[in-house]
Parts: sequence; structure tokens; C-alpha cells
Amino acid sequence: MTDTPPVTDIPYDSLKPKLSGQRILLIGGAGFIGHNLALGLSAMGAEVAIADNLMVNSLIENSFESKRDLVQRQAYQHFLLSRFELLREAGVRLINCDARHLADLGRVFEDVRPTKVVHLAAIASAVDAKKEPGLTFDLQLITLRNALELVRPRIDAINQVMFLSSSTVYGDFEGDTVDETTFPRPEGIYANAKFMGERLVRTYRTQYGVGTTVIRPSALYGERCISRRVSQAFVENALTGKPLLLEGGGDGRLDFTYIEDLVQGMVRALALHDAPEKSSTYNITFGNARTIAELAAIVKDVVPGAILEERPRAMDKPIRGTLSIERASRELGFKPDWPLETGYRRYCEWYVDAWERAKRQLERN
Ligand SMILES: NC(=O)c1ccc[n+]([C@@H]2O[C@H](COP(=O)([O-])OP(=O)(O)OC[C@H]3O[C@@H](n4cnc5c(N)ncnc54)[C@H](O)[C@@H]3O)[C@@H](O)[C@H]2O)c1
Repeated sequence: MTDTPPVTDIPYDSLKPKLSGQRILLIGGAGFIGHNLALGLSAMGAEVAIADNLMVNSLIENSFESKRDLVQRQAYQHFLLSRFELLREAGVRLINCDARHLADLGRVFEDVRPTKVVHLAAIASAVDAKKEPGLTFDLQLITLRNALELVRPRIDAINQVMFLSSSTVYGDFEGDTVDETTFPRPEGIYANAKFMGERLVRTYRTQYGVGTTVIRPSALYGERCISRRVSQAFVENALTGKPLLLEGGGDGRLDFTYIEDLVQGMVRALALHDAPEKSSTYNITFGNARTIAELAAIVKDVVPGAILEERPRAMDKPIRGTLSIERASRELGFKPDWPLETGYRRYCEWYVDAWERAKRQLERN
């Protein structure tokens, strides 16, 4: 008998002592996941610094993207600026650095002296990545190579490298559910670069003793995201009178995950990584795939004027489903709090408010 509670019962707040005193460097951390993670970690007492070159989904892109209409541009600018404000208020440092350049990233390592490193830099969309395979390779893998090469001589000080992979490494699902033991069958440049990244990270563990954690998230949604995945595109289309397209009647399934649940899981995986030689891979999702039609129904409830339009299913549509979170629940005590009915509804209501505010601001100017 031991008096240690089962990991599934670990209360979130009890992780604070494990994170206080940790200096955590987020590479590509000014983006959607990164800034939310930075806020979550800083609330748990960690010292957080971000290295980001503000290259993807950035203020510059938002200002010069010619297809963006005025309200959209205004709203996204507000999302991006409020990321910075929240980070500054939380005491998170944001260092402008292109992680493709080893010497520049090296200076950040010297300055921050991290004890943990999280790698998030990427073109974080399979569709965008397909248009620029060379850039995809560089942003995902050259930056990762540099991070690992800087960690390698510092393993006495850096106890963990966390790599943000993706559910796309599983490729088309053969059944309803996959878990971390399912053999990956990635397709396309984005998923293959993620899979290569995972292999590279694990190689640095087996060959050089770097402590590693691989996280596989899926279909995220949440405040201040500007990536226009289906969860954002639907609510925005509803607000601008454009149809919500339901391919194949909207029967495609995705394991939609609210950003707060992902942050909870990542914080747990960072806090509970207690041995430098440890290596783990976790699905961090809601753990229950839902249909696109169910997503659209929530939008319609929040924005009753939303137009739902059925379309034939595209031939090359990926087949997805549920990512089992059993391992993360067992080993990390991870328990998501936000099913679509509450998490996505909350996000849609936030979006409607933000959109209205952007419109009012434009009218004033
Ligand atoms: N959002 C999702 O649904 C999702 C799902 C699965 C996996 N992921 C992965 O999680 C990670 C973060 O995704 P996100 O949604 O926050 O994306 P994001 O585009 O919002 O953030 C990525 C950040 O990386 C930065 N970056 C890119 N190249 C860089 C470089 N050379 N040097 C420094 N910074 C650089 C960008 O400027 C951006 O701030 C990515 O690796 C993505 O592939 C995201």
C-alpha cells in the first residue's frame, strides 16, 4: 500500500508547486495555443517566455491579407492585440526570434535559461501547409532541429521538451477510435512533417537522453483564434450571411476540443514530467468525436439566421473520429471540462460579442 493518490485524482491546483520555479520557453508561443498555454502556465506559477517571429497568423498578415473584409480585419486585430495585452499583464516575456536561425534561438536559450521547452512553431493548417511544402518543412522541422540541438548540451538543466504534434498523424481512421498505440499512417506534408518531428524528438531521447513529451491535439476552437478552422468559419459565416457548408450532410466527425481543456492537459503533462529520461505521447482532446452537423446546430442556436447548406462530400475528405484520452486520464489525471454544448456555445457567444464590438469600432472611426 502507498499513500500516493492515484494519478487520476490529482487536483489541478496541487500541481502548482511542481511548476513554480520552472522557466518554460515556448517556441512559436505567440500563436493560438501558445499564448493560451503561456497564460495557463503563468497562472500556475511558472516563469514563461515566448520566442516567436510573428510570421504566421500575425498582425502583419492580418493587415495585408487582401481577401479580408474590414470587420474581420478589425476583429482579428483586436484578438491579436489582446493576446499581447494578456501576456504582458501575466508577466510573460515575448521575444521576437526566428527559430529557423540557430544562433538567434541560441541567444534566447542563453537569456531565458529554460528548464522546459515547448515547441509549437509551424504552419498550423494542413491546407495551408500543402500550398507551401518547403516552408512547412522549415517552420516545423528546422526550428525543431535547432531546439533539440540547443537542448542536447543542456540536459542537466532542461528536463523536458514538449512537441506539439497533431491528430493528423493517425491518417484516415480505420475504426471509430484511435489511441496512442494505433500505428500512424500520416498523409500529406503537414501530417508527415509532424510524424517526422515525433520521430526526431524520440531519437533525441533514446540517443541523447532528452526528456520528451509528444502531444496530439485535435480540432481546437477557442477565444482569439484566427486560423479559420471550421469551428471559427461557421460562426463567422453565420454572422456575415454566408452559408455553413455541410459536406455529405455534415456527417464527418471530429474530436472537437476547447482550448481550455488542451491547456489543462498540457499543463498537467508539463507538471508531472518528473524524470528527465521520461518519454510519453498523449492524445489531449475532448475524447468524443462529434459531427459537423452538430457543430452547425449550435451555431444556428446562437445565431438563428445562420444558413445551413448541404454539399456532396469531397472525395479526399479525411476520415476521422475519437482520440482516446484514456492514457492521459490515467497518467495525468486529465479530465476535459468542456463538451461541445457548453464549450462551443460559450465560444460562439464570445465571437458574436467580439464581432459586434469590431463593427461598432469601425463605425466610430
Ligand atoms: N490549432 C489546432 O487545432 C492544432 C491541432 C493540432 C496541432 N496543432 C499544432 O500546435 C502548434 C500551435 O498551433 P496554433 O494553432 O497555435 O498555431 P498558430 O499559427 O496560431 O501559432 C504558430 C506560431 O508559430 C510561430 N512561428 C512559425 N514559424 C516560426 C519561426 N520560424 N520562429 C518562431 N516562431 C514561429 C508563428 O508566428 C505562430 O505564432 C502547431 O505546431 C500546430 O501544428 C494545432
